[in-house]
Amino acid sequence: MKIHEAIVLATERLEEAAVPGARLNAERLLAFELGQDRSYLLSHFQELITDSCLESFCARIECRRRGTPLQYLLGRQEFRGLEFEVTPDVLIPRPETELLVETALERFPIGEPRIADVGTGSGCIAVAVANAMLGARLFATDLSEAALKIARRNASRHSVSERIQFLQGDLLLPLEPLDLEEKLDCVLSNPPYVAERDLPALQKEVREWEPRMALVGGPSGLDIYKRLLPQALRFLKPGGTLIMEIGYNMQATITGLFDASWNLEAMREDFSGIPRIVAARKQ
Ligand SMILES: C[S@@+](CC[C@H](N)C(=O)[O-])C[C@H]1O[C@@H](n2cnc3c(N)ncnc32)[C@H](O)[C@@H]1O
Repeated sequence: MKIHEAIVLATERLEEAAVPGARLNAERLLAFELGQDRSYLLSHFQELITDSCLESFCARIECRRRGTPLQYLLGRQEFRGLEFEVTPDVLIPRPETELLVETALERFPIGEPRIADVGTGSGCIAVAVANAMLGARLFATDLSEAALKIARRNASRHSVSERIQFLQGDLLLPLEPLDLEEKLDCVLSNPPYVAERDLPALQKEVREWEPRMALVGGPSGLDIYKRLLPQALRFLKPGGTLIMEIGYNMQATITGLFDASWNLEAMREDFSGIPRIVAARKQ
Protein backbone atom coordinates (compact mmCIF):
# COMPACT_ATOMS: atom_id res chain seq x y z
CA MET A 1 0.00 0.00 0.00
CA LYS A 2 1.20 3.53 -0.81
CA ILE A 3 1.53 6.32 1.75
CA HIS A 4 -1.42 8.33 0.44
CA GLU A 5 -3.65 5.24 0.30
CA ALA A 6 -2.82 4.38 3.91
CA ILE A 7 -3.66 7.92 4.99
CA VAL A 8 -7.04 7.90 3.19
CA LEU A 9 -7.95 4.51 4.66
CA ALA A 10 -6.90 5.43 8.19
CA THR A 11 -8.71 8.78 7.99
CA GLU A 12 -11.92 6.98 7.05
CA ARG A 13 -11.51 4.53 9.96
CA LEU A 14 -10.99 7.40 12.40
CA GLU A 15 -13.91 9.39 10.99
CA GLU A 16 -16.19 6.37 11.44
CA ALA A 17 -15.25 6.42 15.13
CA ALA A 18 -15.84 10.22 15.28
CA VAL A 19 -12.22 10.98 16.21
CA PRO A 20 -11.79 14.75 15.87
CA GLY A 21 -9.04 15.83 13.43
CA ALA A 22 -9.06 12.38 11.80
CA ARG A 23 -6.78 13.27 8.88
CA LEU A 24 -4.21 15.01 11.07
CA ASN A 25 -4.22 12.07 13.50
CA ALA A 26 -3.69 9.62 10.61
CA GLU A 27 -0.82 11.68 9.23
CA ARG A 28 0.89 12.12 12.59
CA LEU A 29 0.66 8.42 13.38
CA LEU A 30 1.98 7.38 9.98
CA ALA A 31 4.84 9.90 10.14
CA PHE A 32 5.68 8.53 13.60
CA GLU A 33 5.63 4.96 12.28
CA LEU A 34 7.99 5.91 9.45
CA GLY A 35 10.28 7.88 11.78
CA GLN A 36 9.72 11.00 9.65
CA ASP A 37 7.89 14.31 9.98
CA ARG A 38 4.57 15.07 8.27
CA SER A 39 6.17 16.97 5.39
CA TYR A 40 7.83 13.68 4.34
CA LEU A 41 4.38 12.18 3.71
CA LEU A 42 3.55 14.91 1.20
CA SER A 43 6.77 14.61 -0.74
CA HIS A 44 6.71 10.77 -0.74
CA PHE A 45 2.97 10.10 -1.09
CA GLN A 46 3.52 7.47 -3.84
CA GLU A 47 6.06 5.51 -1.77
CA LEU A 48 5.14 1.96 -0.69
CA ILE A 49 4.89 1.11 3.01
CA THR A 50 6.38 -2.17 4.23
CA ASP A 51 3.96 -4.81 5.55
CA SER A 52 5.34 -4.64 9.08
CA CYS A 53 5.04 -0.85 9.16
CA LEU A 54 1.47 -1.04 7.83
CA GLU A 55 0.55 -3.64 10.44
CA SER A 56 1.91 -1.52 13.27
CA PHE A 57 0.24 1.64 11.85
CA CYS A 58 -3.15 -0.15 11.64
CA ALA A 59 -2.77 -1.32 15.27
CA ARG A 60 -2.21 2.28 16.42
CA ILE A 61 -5.17 3.51 14.37
CA GLU A 62 -7.33 0.91 16.12
CA CYS A 63 -6.11 2.15 19.54
CA ARG A 64 -6.90 5.71 18.48
CA ARG A 65 -10.39 4.61 17.38
CA ARG A 66 -10.95 3.14 20.84
CA GLY A 67 -10.02 6.45 22.45
CA THR A 68 -6.31 6.24 23.38
CA PRO A 69 -5.09 9.86 23.31
CA LEU A 70 -2.82 10.63 20.35
CA GLN A 71 -0.08 11.84 22.71
CA TYR A 72 0.10 8.47 24.48
CA LEU A 73 0.36 6.69 21.11
CA LEU A 74 3.14 9.04 19.99
CA GLY A 75 4.70 8.96 23.47
CA ARG A 76 5.28 12.69 23.45
CA GLN A 77 3.79 16.16 23.83
CA GLU A 78 5.23 19.60 23.24
CA PHE A 79 5.21 22.10 26.10
CA ARG A 80 6.74 25.60 25.82
CA GLY A 81 8.68 24.50 22.74
CA LEU A 82 10.20 21.46 24.47
CA GLU A 83 9.31 17.86 23.72
CA PHE A 84 8.19 15.77 26.72
CA GLU A 85 7.86 12.02 26.97
CA VAL A 86 4.35 11.09 28.10
CA THR A 87 2.82 7.75 29.06
CA PRO A 88 -0.51 6.89 30.74
CA ASP A 89 1.33 7.35 34.06
CA VAL A 90 1.34 11.13 33.60
CA LEU A 91 -1.12 13.87 32.71
CA ILE A 92 -0.62 15.17 29.16
CA PRO A 93 0.76 18.73 29.58
CA ARG A 94 -1.84 21.36 28.60
CA PRO A 95 -1.23 24.72 26.89
CA GLU A 96 -2.86 26.68 29.76
CA THR A 97 -0.19 25.35 32.13
CA GLU A 98 2.39 27.27 30.05
CA LEU A 99 0.82 30.41 31.58
CA LEU A 100 1.85 29.21 35.03
CA VAL A 101 5.44 28.89 33.82
CA GLU A 102 5.27 32.35 32.18
CA THR A 103 4.01 33.84 35.45
CA ALA A 104 6.93 32.31 37.35
CA LEU A 105 9.50 33.45 34.78
CA GLU A 106 8.20 37.03 34.89
CA ARG A 107 8.67 37.11 38.67
CA PHE A 108 12.21 35.73 38.63
CA PRO A 109 13.88 37.12 35.51
CA ILE A 110 17.31 36.79 37.12
CA GLY A 111 18.91 35.29 40.23
CA GLU A 112 19.06 31.85 41.77
CA PRO A 113 15.59 31.20 43.21
CA ARG A 114 14.67 28.03 45.05
CA ILE A 115 11.41 26.77 43.57
CA ALA A 116 9.15 23.80 44.33
CA ASP A 117 6.87 22.16 41.75
CA VAL A 118 4.15 20.23 43.57
CA GLY A 119 2.58 17.36 41.60
CA THR A 120 5.20 17.42 38.87
CA GLY A 121 3.70 14.63 36.70
CA SER A 122 5.71 14.58 33.45
CA GLY A 123 7.97 17.24 34.98
CA CYS A 124 6.84 19.77 32.35
CA ILE A 125 6.68 22.74 34.76
CA ALA A 126 9.95 22.05 36.60
CA VAL A 127 11.85 21.23 33.41
CA ALA A 128 10.51 24.25 31.49
CA VAL A 129 11.40 26.57 34.40
CA ALA A 130 14.89 25.08 34.80
CA ASN A 131 15.42 25.32 31.05
CA ALA A 132 14.48 29.02 30.92
CA MET A 133 15.91 30.13 34.28
CA LEU A 134 19.52 28.98 34.38
CA GLY A 135 20.15 29.92 38.02
CA ALA A 136 17.02 28.25 39.43
CA ARG A 137 17.19 25.24 41.73
CA LEU A 138 14.05 23.10 41.76
CA PHE A 139 12.39 20.54 44.03
CA ALA A 140 9.74 18.54 42.19
CA THR A 141 7.39 16.27 44.14
CA ASP A 142 4.74 13.72 43.23
CA LEU A 143 2.88 10.95 45.02
CA SER A 144 3.33 8.73 41.97
CA GLU A 145 6.70 6.99 41.64
CA ALA A 146 5.75 6.00 38.08
CA ALA A 147 5.24 9.67 37.17
CA LEU A 148 8.56 10.65 38.77
CA LYS A 149 10.34 8.10 36.59
CA ILE A 150 9.03 9.87 33.48
CA ALA A 151 9.80 13.31 34.96
CA ARG A 152 13.43 12.29 35.63
CA ARG A 153 13.76 11.11 32.03
CA ASN A 154 12.35 14.42 30.77
CA ALA A 155 14.81 16.38 32.93
CA SER A 156 17.66 14.32 31.54
CA ARG A 157 16.42 14.75 27.95
CA HIS A 158 16.62 18.53 28.42
CA SER A 159 19.89 18.49 30.39
CA VAL A 160 18.52 20.02 33.59
CA SER A 161 18.74 16.97 35.91
CA GLU A 162 21.48 18.43 38.06
CA ARG A 163 19.24 21.39 39.05
CA ILE A 164 16.04 19.46 39.81
CA GLN A 165 15.64 17.17 42.80
CA PHE A 166 12.73 14.76 42.28
CA LEU A 167 11.08 13.60 45.51
CA GLN A 168 8.27 11.12 46.12
CA GLY A 169 5.62 12.03 48.67
CA ASP A 170 2.67 14.17 49.66
CA LEU A 171 2.77 17.81 48.47
CA LEU A 172 5.71 19.63 50.14
CA LEU A 173 6.32 17.08 52.90
CA PRO A 174 9.23 15.38 51.05
CA LEU A 175 11.14 18.68 51.54
CA GLU A 176 11.11 18.26 55.33
CA PRO A 177 14.46 16.41 55.56
CA LEU A 178 16.12 19.02 53.32
CA ASP A 179 15.93 21.83 55.90
CA LEU A 180 13.99 24.11 53.55
CA GLU A 181 11.43 25.66 55.92
CA GLU A 182 11.02 29.40 55.11
CA LYS A 183 13.69 29.04 52.42
CA LEU A 184 11.74 28.70 49.17
CA ASP A 185 11.28 31.72 46.89
CA CYS A 186 8.38 30.18 45.03
CA VAL A 187 5.96 27.25 45.07
CA LEU A 188 4.34 26.24 41.78
CA SER A 189 1.52 23.75 41.36
CA ASN A 190 -0.96 22.49 38.83
CA PRO A 191 -2.80 20.19 41.25
CA PRO A 192 -5.59 17.72 40.51
CA TYR A 193 -8.72 19.90 40.67
CA VAL A 194 -11.64 18.00 39.15
CA ALA A 195 -14.50 17.45 41.61
CA GLU A 196 -15.36 13.75 41.97
CA ARG A 197 -18.93 14.37 40.83
CA ASP A 198 -17.66 16.05 37.61
CA LEU A 199 -15.49 13.09 36.58
CA PRO A 200 -18.22 11.34 34.53
CA ALA A 201 -18.74 14.54 32.51
CA LEU A 202 -15.09 14.75 31.40
CA GLN A 203 -14.14 13.85 27.84
CA LYS A 204 -13.90 10.04 27.52
CA GLU A 205 -10.23 10.26 26.46
CA VAL A 206 -9.36 12.16 29.64
CA ARG A 207 -11.57 10.18 32.01
CA GLU A 208 -10.53 6.75 30.82
CA TRP A 209 -6.87 7.34 30.02
CA GLU A 210 -5.28 10.02 32.16
CA PRO A 211 -4.33 9.04 35.74
CA ARG A 212 -7.19 9.56 38.18
CA MET A 213 -4.65 10.76 40.75
CA ALA A 214 -3.72 13.57 38.36
CA LEU A 215 -7.33 14.64 37.82
CA VAL A 216 -9.45 14.32 40.94
CA GLY A 217 -9.04 16.71 43.85
CA GLY A 218 -11.59 15.18 46.24
CA PRO A 219 -15.38 15.67 46.43
CA SER A 220 -15.26 19.39 45.56
CA GLY A 221 -11.93 19.49 43.68
CA LEU A 222 -10.44 21.67 46.43
CA ASP A 223 -8.70 19.08 48.63
CA ILE A 224 -5.16 19.73 47.40
CA TYR A 225 -5.50 23.54 47.48
CA LYS A 226 -6.74 23.41 51.07
CA ARG A 227 -3.80 21.27 52.18
CA LEU A 228 -1.17 22.99 50.05
CA LEU A 229 -1.76 26.54 51.34
CA PRO A 230 -0.60 25.89 54.94
CA GLN A 231 2.33 23.79 53.71
CA ALA A 232 3.39 26.56 51.30
CA LEU A 233 3.28 29.08 54.17
CA ARG A 234 5.63 26.80 56.08
CA PHE A 235 8.20 26.45 53.29
CA LEU A 236 8.07 29.90 51.62
CA LYS A 237 10.30 32.76 52.75
CA PRO A 238 8.44 35.88 53.91
CA GLY A 239 7.53 37.60 50.61
CA GLY A 240 7.77 34.28 48.71
CA THR A 241 5.22 33.51 46.01
CA LEU A 242 2.71 30.72 45.52
CA ILE A 243 1.50 30.28 41.92
CA MET A 244 -1.22 27.71 41.15
CA GLU A 245 -3.38 26.68 38.24
CA ILE A 246 -7.10 26.56 39.04
CA GLY A 247 -10.11 24.83 37.47
CA TYR A 248 -13.07 26.30 35.60
CA ASN A 249 -15.27 28.51 37.79
CA MET A 250 -13.06 28.12 40.87
CA GLN A 251 -11.93 31.74 41.12
CA ALA A 252 -14.21 32.86 43.98
CA THR A 253 -13.78 29.70 46.05
CA ILE A 254 -10.00 29.70 45.72
CA THR A 255 -9.77 33.39 46.58
CA GLY A 256 -11.70 32.60 49.77
CA LEU A 257 -9.05 30.09 50.87
CA PHE A 258 -6.36 32.77 51.32
CA ASP A 259 -6.30 34.33 54.79
CA ALA A 260 -4.45 37.39 56.14
CA SER A 261 -1.11 35.56 55.91
CA TRP A 262 -1.23 36.17 52.14
CA ASN A 263 -1.31 39.09 49.70
CA LEU A 264 -3.45 37.89 46.85
CA GLU A 265 -2.38 39.18 43.44
CA ALA A 266 -4.31 39.43 40.16
CA MET A 267 -5.70 36.28 38.55
CA ARG A 268 -4.45 35.51 35.08
CA GLU A 269 -6.86 34.38 32.38
CA ASP A 270 -6.21 31.67 29.80
CA PHE A 271 -6.74 32.02 26.03
CA SER A 272 -10.50 31.47 26.46
CA GLY A 273 -10.78 34.24 29.06
CA ILE A 274 -11.15 31.77 31.96
CA PRO A 275 -9.35 32.77 35.21
CA ARG A 276 -6.66 30.11 35.35
CA ILE A 277 -3.61 31.20 37.32
CA VAL A 278 -3.63 32.54 40.87
CA ALA A 279 -0.56 34.11 42.47
CA ALA A 280 -0.20 35.15 46.12
CA ARG A 281 2.66 36.44 48.23
CA LYS A 282 3.34 35.30 51.76
CA GLN A 283 3.26 38.34 54.09
C1 LIG B 1 -2.87 17.86 37.26
S1 LIG B 1 -1.46 16.80 37.37
C2 LIG B 1 -0.19 17.97 36.94
C3 LIG B 1 1.01 17.34 36.29
C4 LIG B 1 2.01 18.36 35.73
N1 LIG B 1 2.50 19.23 36.76
C5 LIG B 1 1.34 19.19 34.65
O1 LIG B 1 1.08 20.38 34.89
O2 LIG B 1 1.09 18.65 33.56
C6 LIG B 1 -1.31 16.64 39.13
C7 LIG B 1 -0.16 15.78 39.61
O3 LIG B 1 -0.19 15.80 41.04
C8 LIG B 1 0.14 14.51 41.52
N2 LIG B 1 -0.45 14.41 42.88
C9 LIG B 1 -1.73 14.13 43.23
N3 LIG B 1 -1.86 14.19 44.57
C10 LIG B 1 -0.65 14.52 45.07
C11 LIG B 1 -0.15 14.73 46.40
N4 LIG B 1 -0.96 14.62 47.47
N5 LIG B 1 1.16 15.03 46.55
C12 LIG B 1 1.97 15.14 45.46
N6 LIG B 1 1.55 14.97 44.19
C13 LIG B 1 0.27 14.66 44.00
C14 LIG B 1 -0.43 13.57 40.51
O4 LIG B 1 0.20 12.30 40.58
C15 LIG B 1 -0.17 14.32 39.20
O5 LIG B 1 1.08 13.96 38.66
